[in-house]
Amino acid sequence: MAKSNRTRWTRKHLLGLEDMSAGEILTVLDLADGYLPCVLSRRPCPPRLKGRTVLNLFCEDSTRTRTSFTFAAERLGARVFQFHASTSSLNKKESLVDTARNVEAMGLDAIVIRHQERQAPHRLAAAVECSVLNAGDDAHEHPTQALLDMLAIRRRLGRLEGLTLALVGDVRHSRVARSNLFGLSKFGNRVIFVGPEMFLKDLDVKAETSTDFDAVLPQCDAVMMLRVQFERHESMAFDIDKYTRGYQLTPTRLAKARPGAIVLHPGPVNRGIEMANEVADGPQSVILFQATCGVAVRMAALELCIGALERERKAAAKGKRR
Ligand code: CP
Repeated sequence: MAKSNRTRWTRKHLLGLEDMSAGEILTVLDLADGYLPCVLSRRPCPPRLKGRTVLNLFCEDSTRTRTSFTFAAERLGARVFQFHASTSSLNKKESLVDTARNVEAMGLDAIVIRHQERQAPHRLAAAVECSVLNAGDDAHEHPTQALLDMLAIRRRLGRLEGLTLALVGDVRHSRVARSNLFGLSKFGNRVIFVGPEMFLKDLDVKAETSTDFDAVLPQCDAVMMLRVQFERHESMAFDIDKYTRGYQLTPTRLAKARPGAIVLHPGPVNRGIEMANEVADGPQSVILFQATCGVAVRMAALELCIGALERERKAAAKGKRR
């Protein structure tokens, strides 16, 4: 898609990629692309969010997403408050919405939320005035992860259209797989969910699937490996040796992919399960580049959403003066 197909950004919330257009996705990616050199070189960035306050409201563990949202907001000059659910009044049965509205009353421009409940960010967005950015809700969506994956793919492969990508592993419990499916499909890419039958059956999204990783690999420009999310399994019997035999990405397996194919993983990587060390640390791996892209994408996402919020605030103030 040409750059002219970018769309003027009007959303104050970033909740998922399912209902975002290709033009909106390109708007985020192009702005993030412009930020990438300053992230890579550690050069200062324009303080476009100076004086703004962002709340990182994480109710589930995180390393990459929390850290990169923090770095992104700080690089643009915003102040970030880290909310830790385990030491908060959520433990005294205060609701998520009451918690957020109380902190918002102290002066907030954006809430970045990760939550174990599907659509918790959507619920919050309906209850607060400030911007809400989804940092992962249950196995539903993780939009900024998919956006950073798309930026890494576009940078490394030189395009974001007409590619074949395998998303391999526990797709059933993966919000990353869902957001990538929604996002990548909008650009005419072929996305194949690969894994054992137990992870492919009764999916609540329409996706091409395969249980045969070795047969899919020769078609792949990119392979995204996913962690087995044991914490989200209810009572699934899981044979780890059988799984690694069929689905671990080893150097031998990777050699079957298209020449120049790249390997992605959203992290955290469980080495020796979904991926061999030689692949995780090998020349085709873009895992650490994904982490770098994450800062640039989250800078773009915060700037666009808070920009839309401020236009809304200005219009409301103008309306009141009339
Ligand atoms: N990819 C990702 O969401 O990682 P974290 O859980 O460490 O944030």
